[in-house]
Amino acid sequence: MKKIVVLVGSNRRESINLKFARALGRLASGRLEFDFADLSALPMYNDDDLAQPPAAVRALKEKVAAADGVLFVTPEYNRSIPALLKNAIDWVSRPYGDNDWAGKAAAIVGTSPGVIGTATAQMHLRTIMISLGGTLMGQPEVFLQYKEGLFDNENAVTDEGTEMFLNGFIDRFVGWVDVAQERVAA
Ligand code: FNR
Repeated sequence: MKKIVVLVGSNRRESINLKFARALGRLASGRLEFDFADLSALPMYNDDDLAQPPAAVRALKEKVAAADGVLFVTPEYNRSIPALLKNAIDWVSRPYGDNDWAGKAAAIVGTSPGVIGTATAQMHLRTIMISLGGTLMGQPEVFLQYKEGLFDNENAVTDEGTEMFLNGFIDRFVGWVDVAQERVAA
């Protein structure tokens, strides 16, 4: 089964994006294996540390390099992505010439209590991922407005229409991972 590294752009215990990521993992079971990256131990990016990268950085780079694809589940902070996520992306893109995002199948989703459901943050992240050479899935876009109770304690999606839509997203991503891997092999 294809292995997907999941980067959640929030380290808040009650993060709605973490809940969303877990719900997607449950929906995807049997189709994709989710491997959650721990971004909380990453120091702030510093070129000076590249000669001897901290263990958390090495672990993240290795995880991304070994994965078949990557899924970003991001909150929106002031119309962009949180620094936590940008910091992780920057680390994995370096040192120069060893950018682990290049050619990697990628998809972006996010949830917010606001009606635009992280759309603006996702547009920024799209620009970043394309500039890093990630093979980014364009459709479907998932701008999810969070409502209390959307996910239950077992990570199930409680709204039938949303569940169907997210299942469709996962189907497309499964196919997209194959497309990205064929491109790298060609
Ligand atoms: C926010 N929030 C927010 N929401 C939004 O839809 N657009 C935005 O630009 C912002 N900006 C913003 C900035 C900062 C610094 C914080 C802390 C929050 C609200 C945000 O969507 C809400 O706090 C979510 O619950 C954050 O996601 P997690 O941490 O629950 O996954």
